[in-house]
Amino acid sequence: MTPTPDATKGTVAIAAIHGGALELRLASDAPGRGTVVDFSQFRRGQIARHPLVRAVGKGTGAVIDATAGLGADAWLLAASGRHVIALERCAAVHDAVADGLARAGRDPSLEAVAGRITLQHADSIRALAGLVERARSGGGSIDAIVLDPMYPHSGSSALPPRDIRLVRAAAGDDVDALDLFAAACHCGVSRVVVRRPHRAPPMALPATTALSAPLNAQFGSKLVRYDLYLPFRASPTP
Ligand SMILES: C[S@@+](CC[C@H](N)C(=O)[O-])C[C@H]1O[C@@H](n2cnc3c(N)ncnc32)[C@H](O)[C@@H]1O
Repeated sequence: MTPTPDATKGTVAIAAIHGGALELRLASDAPGRGTVVDFSQFRRGQIARHPLVRAVGKGTGAVIDATAGLGADAWLLAASGRHVIALERCAAVHDAVADGLARAGRDPSLEAVAGRITLQHADSIRALAGLVERARSGGGSIDAIVLDPMYPHSGSSALPPRDIRLVRAAAGDDVDALDLFAAACHCGVSRVVVRRPHRAPPMALPATTALSAPLNAQFGSKLVRYDLYLPFRASPTP
């Protein structure tokens, strides 16, 4: 067993081999008590009507999931037919998803969806602009950036409560979520989608920025909503 301590936020949760898969578990828990990323458990059906898929919209370009977590949203988007670039900055969480994707890639019933996901270990605040630039210079396009930063004490994540507790233990609270929102709005992608609990206020750019990012629409489900922002550079007043 080779524990992979989280490189960014401490060692409260670790990714460690158990039963041939990498599980994310609390460092204080016994092997087998954690969670393994298993995309074969993904619920099928109604994908096209899922509020995240509707918020991202139609198109042929890729989608960046800038807060990959355990990969549920990235998998949903890939299952809807999108190519997804998924970024995760917490090493232990990234490694657990990479392991799940590798196993999915060896399963004939999952390999097509797994093949549409490119996972990277990176901090999106620093990586987004360069990623979008490289995609464009390579002839590709990015249709949307999706954000699901950890919301304080929220039970409304894409993940089951036990999994979100583990991710929180590994990655901590995303106190820089507004910086991430600003980075997403500034890299020239026309749609930015943010997952929020119903009680959370919409995101806003600092008043000093030359960019506007109006909230354009909200796509709701029982627990959460997906806010769609359409950033644009405000033209200077004459
Ligand atoms: C609420 S979870 C996301 C759950 C995810 N939507 C899913 O479907 O599994 C938030 C995750 O975003 C990651 N994250 C937050 N800010 C990030 C950033 N700037 N760059 C990369 N990952 C980030 C955290 O480490 C954490 O794993």
